[in-house]
Amino acid sequence: MPGITLGDTVPNLEVETTHKNFKLHDYFADSWTVLFSHPGDFTPVCTTELGAMGKYAHEFEQRGVKLLGLSCDDIQSHKDWIPDIEAFTPGSKVTYPIIADPNKEIIPQLNMIDPIENGPSRALHIVGPDCKIKLSFLYPSTTGRNMDEVLRALDSLLMAAKHKNKIATPVNWKPDEPVVISPAVSDEEAKKLFPQGFKTAELPSKKGYLRVADVS
Ligand code: BEZ
Repeated sequence: MPGITLGDTVPNLEVETTHKNFKLHDYFADSWTVLFSHPGDFTPVCTTELGAMGKYAHEFEQRGVKLLGLSCDDIQSHKDWIPDIEAFTPGSKVTYPIIADPNKEIIPQLNMIDPIENGPSRALHIVGPDCKIKLSFLYPSTTGRNMDEVLRALDSLLMAAKHKNKIATPVNWKPDEPVVISPAVSDEEAKKLFPQGFKTAELPSKKGYLRVADVS
């Protein structure tokens, strides 16, 4: 994936949105942000995705996380489209801003391009309070994203950040489930970090690398 990726700082672009114009770093300041792109307005998959984001908005809000959409049309088109989005997904309110990118000038700078189509993708960056990309999804325009997975991945990032990346989350992890201890943490350090204890899986290799802790 050429362009900005994990660990890179998102460029501080001035963007026009359905709420107001701002510089990206001003929006990102002091919280986590889910920045997600769409190929265009009045298209079926995008209508379902933006509706789902509106329905999940309270989940992001509860976690102190901001949403920021982007679609490759102008502001008036976005505003005309919002009633369709909310009508298709009952209970959805598009309370988050949507960036206008009618000339597709912003998406390459945010690495939100589908390299096969050489056009807009369904990209999603989770951006930290330091304006750096912590996680990216890149889906083609034919595949709608799974908002439960967006939330699950975000919860994993928040959990790892809370524990200064001394833990990681295993396959299909969900909040309240046990986490694993990073291989960079020695058993001695783990005993201090997890006074409630941890379990080391007994595996044929006897290497003791798979340690599970309950941090909920
Ligand atoms: C859609 O949102 O439905 C869509 C957009 C671009 C290409 C294909 C589908």
